[in-house]
Amino acid sequence: MDFRSQGQLMRDMKTAAIIGGGVIGGGWAARFLLNGWDVRICDPDPEAARKIGEVLDGARRALPMLYDTRLPPEGELTFCDGIGAAVAGADWVQESVPERLDLKHRVMAEIQATCDPDAVVGSSTSGFTPSQLQEGAARPEQILVTHPFNPVYLLPLVEVVASAATPPDRLEQTEEVLRSLGMYPLRVRGEIDAHIADRLLEAVWREALWLVSDGIATTGEIDDAIRYGFGLRWAQMGLFETYRIAGGEAGMAQFLEQFGPALKWPWTKLMDVPDLTPDLIARLEAQSDAQSGHLSVRALERLRDDNLVAILRALRQRGAGAGALIAAHEATLRTPVAGMPLVTVERVIPVDWIDQNGHMNESRYGQVFSDAADAVLDYVGAGMDHIAGGHSYFTTETVISYLRETHAGEAVRVETTVAEAAGKKLRLSHEMKRSDGTPLATCRQSLVHVSLATRRACEPGADLVQRLQALVTPRSNSA
Ligand SMILES: NC(=O)c1ccc[n+]([C@@H]2O[C@H](COP(=O)([O-])OP(=O)(O)OC[C@H]3O[C@@H](n4cnc5c(N)ncnc54)[C@H](O)[C@@H]3O)[C@@H](O)[C@H]2O)c1
Repeated sequence: MDFRSQGQLMRDMKTAAIIGGGVIGGGWAARFLLNGWDVRICDPDPEAARKIGEVLDGARRALPMLYDTRLPPEGELTFCDGIGAAVAGADWVQESVPERLDLKHRVMAEIQATCDPDAVVGSSTSGFTPSQLQEGAARPEQILVTHPFNPVYLLPLVEVVASAATPPDRLEQTEEVLRSLGMYPLRVRGEIDAHIADRLLEAVWREALWLVSDGIATTGEIDDAIRYGFGLRWAQMGLFETYRIAGGEAGMAQFLEQFGPALKWPWTKLMDVPDLTPDLIARLEAQSDAQSGHLSVRALERLRDDNLVAILRALRQRGAGAGALIAAHEATLRTPVAGMPLVTVERVIPVDWIDQNGHMNESRYGQVFSDAADAVLDYVGAGMDHIAGGHSYFTTETVISYLRETHAGEAVRVETTVAEAAGKKLRLSHEMKRSDGTPLATCRQSLVHVSLATRRACEPGADLVQRLQALVTPRSNSA
């Protein structure tokens, strides 16, 4: 195993080989590509390029909307004829072929025949343990489970499962790469069938099948029971934190006292599995068609992705759960303000900024230009440190002209010039453009330097004024 520093590792690792490009492999490909990695795919399905292309279209629309900054330039995508060609020289190999152990063994043998012994070799397996995958392998210590969730390009969770053969530094290297992709590696403490999350999902799935089989609920009613109720709690707190609150002031102890006895009551059919009889299969399919058959799977995917983006952005604003992770990842992606005029914002318009007219709501233009002003202030050293020191700039006037409609998923940038920096007065001029340069909106913004102690205007230090004046250009003076 190579003992490179983590920083060096991140700079060096940039090629991923995706073996099996179906639902999950396509999602992995998108996650790597949109984070700047080159991706090589091997999948014998003659339709693979079309299917992956469609997954990529969805990912290109959804993932950038999560961030308030732009993602790195997309990597290069190559389709390879064989596993050897895909994995040669790759830093990460992700196996995502169908869930059959004999197939996974054959594929792992082919991978290890050519891949770099230092490469991470992760399997997306939903249920097999690393020890099972490592049986008969040339280098068992290289193979571990990196189990993601669909859609892989939006959901951060990856269950990482190692065996006794896995060196600790390989585990750390694996987790570090996953974090650099904006993902959340959850290290599973032991090897069990189906890891953690699929255990839980399997329990809910069995109960749901029983409810349909017994005629108690339809597929739609079961989905309602989740999405109008506990599903919302789970998305931000999970199970145990939610139940702690449900116990009242005494928390978990009281919850266990109140609901503990119910564990012995017939509240679950878990020990028994419903038979997937032709009748039950037909009922499940008919109910699912009645519930969602008017939408194609691609349309449902887009709905799911847009909703996930909106939920994740709300959690991000609250600094909670998966949303906090996105903010932390974003901090590693920000590119410094540069150029003249200064490029102060580069981002994609998220779906939750769109109003009933199908375009960006006017209030969000204010937000974009406010972010642009913050970027200028950061640039000249009047950002968070200046605020912590008791001073800031307050906006006194904003004049926005809306030139063209702006839509969800659109990449925009803001160019900012300093029109005037005189004493406590600061005037900025912003222009928001599409990535092809088409102007979308302009903004003239006046700000005043204030003391946060008195909440009144006050003179900034001469150094700060000088740094701002250095940005005043003849063009911006006339703005
Ligand atoms: N679908 C899910 O929600 C989900 C979630 C997490 C993990 N997983 C796991 O991910 C893996 C893949 O599942 P999926 O849902 O993407 O299946 P899938 O059927 O959509 O995709 C599998 C792909 O592998 C390709 N393939 C078959 N043999 C191959 C070979 N020898 N070499 C290269 N490619 C080959 C197939 O052509 C297909 O495109 C499974 O282990 C599954 O348990 C699935």
